[in-house]
This record gives sequence, structure tokens and C-alpha cells, in this order.
Amino acid sequence: MKHLTNKQTSTLKNLDHYIQDLFKEDKTGHDYGHIKRVVDLTARLLVDKANPFVCLVAAYCHDLFDDKLEMPFKSIEELEKTSELDFEGQDILIQKVIDELGYKGGFKDVSRSLNAQIVYEADLLDASGAIGIGRAFYYAGSKGHIFHDPSLEGIQASNYDEYRNLSRNVIAHFDEKLLKLKDEMKTDKAKKIANHRHELLVMFVKAFKEEVEGRDYEK
Ligand code: ADP
Ligand code: NI
Repeated sequence: MKHLTNKQTSTLKNLDHYIQDLFKEDKTGHDYGHIKRVVDLTARLLVDKANPFVCLVAAYCHDLFDDKLEMPFKSIEELEKTSELDFEGQDILIQKVIDELGYKGGFKDVSRSLNAQIVYEADLLDASGAIGIGRAFYYAGSKGHIFHDPSLEGIQASNYDEYRNLSRNVIAHFDEKLLKLKDEMKTDKAKKIANHRHELLVMFVKAFKEEVEGRDYEK
């Protein structure tokens, strides 16, 4: 495994403080907690051929340029200038990783470098498992969506615009995204973690439907 230099470790520490400050007010599910989990997952998924510095900087910055957020800069290069962090001439590579991320409802096909695949998998893993379930309901609440309306059952997004805007039950997001996440994984470790998190999603969806339909506890 390639190691970080002392200078890179120190840059990442400074970047951590910088990002923590930028995201401290976020209530959209892109909070610092999410960013830090994605950074830690990225570190767990790193393999020999990956570039650890590029992957970790990209993980810290992966939600900075989301069109739903308003940030004072539009690129890694601008961030580097504003923050005075030194990305050691790797701005273009880091930007490329970030540009290749995003699930987008599975409606946009993107081919990814190994570095991007690792950060992508880390980001998706945080949408799965116990945390993913929590984030889905938190997201829906923050958007003012209803919790669950039986009359909306079966309504599902069939293109990217609907994925972003269609009024539907939170549980529909499990079919359109969360239950598909394990199939997006290409690296061995991510596959293992994703399969484990997937089991909880399956149990949750089953229990949710049983409770909604009033058949969860029958002797
Ligand atoms: P993505 O671009 O991958 O959909 P977002 O940044 O939009 O990711 O989503 C942030 C979190 O909110 C993720 O955990 C995601 O699964 C969840 N989420 C996104 N869209 C919905 C939705 N329509 N209903 C419930 N949860 C959602
Ligand atoms: Ni993210």
C-alpha cells in the first residue's frame, strides 16, 4: 500500500478542519458526519494501485460541488486557492475523481478510474445499512416529503428527473437505489461490506411492509 507523506497527512488534517467548518450548518444529509464516514470508508477500501492522497482529498471534497449546495468555489483549483491548502499539483486528478462520482438514481452511466471507483463505493456504502436507512428518512423529512402514504405504493421514479422530483414514499427509494447498491461494488472489500449492509436493508424493508400491512406479529 502506498503511504502518505508527512506533508500530505498534515494537509489532510487541515482539510478536515476546513471541511468541518464549511459543513457545520448542513441539514441536508451532506453533513460533516457523512463526509468523515466516507473518508474513513475510503481509507478502508484503498488498494495498492490506488493513489491514497488523491482518494482521500476527493472523499473530503466529494459533496462540495453538489448542485444542491451553495459553496464559495466551483472547483478543486478554486478551493486550493481560497484555502491555501497544497494539493501538490494533483488538482486535475482529484477533480476528475469527484466528477465521476454520484449515483444519480442509476440513470447516468459513468466509467470510473480506480481512484474514483473507491470513493464512489465509499459514498454509496454510507447510503446503505443502518446509516443509509437513517439517512433516507432524514433526507425525505428535510425535503418535506411524507413518511408513508399507502395510496402512493408502487409509485417509482423511472428517469433522472423523476428520481429527483417525483412525490413518492421513502420506502420506494429502497427499490430505486438502496437495494441496488451492492451491485455497484467492484473492489473486494466494498463487496463484503455492501453485502453485509444489504442484509439489514432486506430485513428492514420486509419488516416495514409487514408492519404497514398489519401482519407483523401473528401467532
Ligand atoms: P444521490 O445523488 O446518490 O441520490 P444524494 O446526495 O441525493 O445522493 O442523497 C443523500 C442521501 O439521501 C443518501 O443517503 C440517499 O440515499 C438519500 N436520498 C436521496 N434521494 C432520496 C429520496 N428521494 N428519498 C429518500 N432518500 C433519498
Ligand atoms: Ni456523499
